Amino acid sequence: MIGPLTPLVPHFVAFHVLTLALWCAGLIALPLMLSRHDPAISQADYARIRRYTHFAYTLGVTPAAVLAVASGTVLVFLRDAFTPWMFLKLVFVGALVLTHGWVGHTVTSMEETQGLHQPPHPVLQPVAAFIPILAILFLVLDKPDFSELRFPHWLSQPQGGQLPFLAPSR
Ligand code: HEM
Repeated sequence: MIGPLTPLVPHFVAFHVLTLALWCAGLIALPLMLSRHDPAISQADYARIRRYTHFAYTLGVTPAAVLAVASGTVLVFLRDAFTPWMFLKLVFVGALVLTHGWVGHTVTSMEETQGLHQPPHPVLQPVAAFIPILAILFLVLDKPDFSELRFPHWLSQPQGGQLPFLAPSR
């Protein structure tokens, strides 16, 4: 897209990479901290880890996620990135958002079920974050050309169907 914002593309990319690096680092580091929420550790250590993970999630990782998604959305329009690799990237971003929610759930349940909470296995959440991160990095850096992919006829051709309501015409 040619427009007044085009010269700002490198700045948006730099901002995007900075925020997504924070987001991804948080999604790997937080589960590792959360796995230390063992009921066997001392009350003081438990409270300290609880505070750190809570503030890291709410003041660091979640704002970074929102800013990474927002700057990525702006970049889609600035770079005219309406391509199959981009749509596949969004599927993996969705998986990353689910992992983000899972980590948030662990932070909350750790706070609300003090003493009873069983920490998740230290490997599960980092792996759930790592797989989509690797897939996204591969897609965005390689930008594979999916034009050779053959879709079923019913997905690529109009089927002459009728919407059950009147669509507004321009
Ligand atoms: C809704 C979320 C996201 C959207 C809409 C989005 C969109 C974009 C767009 C349009 C670009 C510019 C691509 C180009 O034309 O070169 C870009 C760059 C990039 N994105 Fe995202 N992105 C999102 C999330 C992420 C996440 C979660 C990661 C990593 C885990 C990521 C990694 C990157 C990287 C590394 C680049 C730089 C590529 C380069 O300059 O060669 N993005 N993103």
